Amino acid sequence: MDFKTLDAPKGGLCAVVADALLLVVAGDKLGAGTGNGTGLDPTLATAVQAAIDAGDLTLEPGQSLYLHRVAGVKAPRVAVATCGDGARPAAWRKALAAGLGLLKGGGAKHVAVAVIGAAPTDAHAEALVAVATEQTYVYRHTKPSAPPASKLERVSLVCDKAAARALDAGLARGQAIAAGVALARECANRPGNHCTPTHLAAEARSLARHHGLKVEVLDRKDVEKLGMGAFLAVAQASHQPLKFIVLRWMGGAKGAAPVVLVGKGITFDTGGVSLKPAAEMDEMKFDMGGAASVLGTLRAVAELGLKLNVIGLIPACENMPGGAAVKPGDVVTSLSGQSIEILNTDAEGRLILCDALTYAERFKPAAVVDIATLTGACVIALGHHRSGLFSPSDALAGELLTAGERGADPAWRMPLDEEYDEALKSNFADMGNVGGRAGGAITAAKFLQRYTARYDWAHLDIAGTAWKSGKDKGGTGRPVPLLTHFLIARAG
Ligand code: BES
Ligand code: MN
Ligand code: ZN
Repeated sequence: MDFKTLDAPKGGLCAVVADALLLVVAGDKLGAGTGNGTGLDPTLATAVQAAIDAGDLTLEPGQSLYLHRVAGVKAPRVAVATCGDGARPAAWRKALAAGLGLLKGGGAKHVAVAVIGAAPTDAHAEALVAVATEQTYVYRHTKPSAPPASKLERVSLVCDKAAARALDAGLARGQAIAAGVALARECANRPGNHCTPTHLAAEARSLARHHGLKVEVLDRKDVEKLGMGAFLAVAQASHQPLKFIVLRWMGGAKGAAPVVLVGKGITFDTGGVSLKPAAEMDEMKFDMGGAASVLGTLRAVAELGLKLNVIGLIPACENMPGGAAVKPGDVVTSLSGQSIEILNTDAEGRLILCDALTYAERFKPAAVVDIATLTGACVIALGHHRSGLFSPSDALAGELLTAGERGADPAWRMPLDEEYDEALKSNFADMGNVGGRAGGAITAAKFLQRYTARYDWAHLDIAGTAWKSGKDKGGTGRPVPLLTHFLIARAG
């Protein structure tokens, strides 16, 4: 899809040439003007006022209305959506979703969007791209017959000439993030028999080739040589070969400490010998959502050409039961040298991540952020709106929370008090891999923390946010917007 700014025509919004005009009304008054982002020309103002007078629309936030062939308006379709005073981000997104939703089933290929009662900012432009692209994504890989979601090809944001530069930057940022989100969604949506560890490695290679990154893929032999005993234990019953993917974006100064992103890449989680119940087990194909977000974020970073060094680490394998599977009570030695009693084979994410977190030390990172669909407990704690954020560093936690707000991809900070660590005690190893039901998202984070003493670290538990269940089942591409904003801010 194509996104551009469009100079507000002298004659007002009624003169905009497009298949459809979407008016997002920010205030509680229609105002009057030329449609440069502050007011409405008399022709359109009269038409919208008539709808209000007829009781078909109010200017309360969250309303929308479609008008066809308004006399005196060049665009044959007009949609109105209201977002309340100030055009605050969440309301702006909802209004766009409603307004574009009214148009998406129709014939419009080119939609021009104008804000009434507020001047659009770069953040509005970025959000416009996010909403429009999210509405048009269709999964096709194993369902080529899926119909297109809409005919939309072009979206223009009407603005004053003076504002165009800032808004163009917002549109560009939005498009880079949207490309990353789309990649993450596509990887996550592909079923476990298509999106294997080998497929993730192929995606990483293709990303590297097309976007100027370096890639290295370690196989089982390499991982054995390194001594990643925890990762190997999870992978050992699968017929799909494991992969340990290392991606490098070297956009920063030579020798500058990189940010390392570590993504959980369980391409299917059966639970292993501690087998999961059958209901909804299909959704465990999404257990590589962390890995998908690392790929997507690196794609966005490369598209934006960020002046920053970023490394992506993806331990990828399946978690299967079977004759060769790791058993409850087995003790393994992680790359860090610490031993782990595997009390529950379904707590496998932390086992593959701990070895990747130790591997991250070699990059002398400025910060390490791991991203994982780690615990059902996090879904119970935070539901599906906010990701769980854990970090001992107030500064790093603050950066990530801010990035989440900027990207409309919010997180919520959770505690890491040492009292929670007690639950991981084992009589047979340095730690167990589970700490009981209480505070399950926190004890999982405490487990990971034992591998992160040598750098600044944060953990994102995206179990509730990486995908949707039900009739809209599918990957969300989260937290690519959060991570990309974090890296944009780091790049300065
Ligand atoms: N991938 C799951 C976490 C998960 C479960 C995410 C449901 C989203 C929805 C993870 O590997 C897992 O199985 N975690 C266990 C940990 C437990 C055994 C301590 C869980 O959450 O039940
Ligand atoms: Mn599991
Ligand atoms: Zn899992």
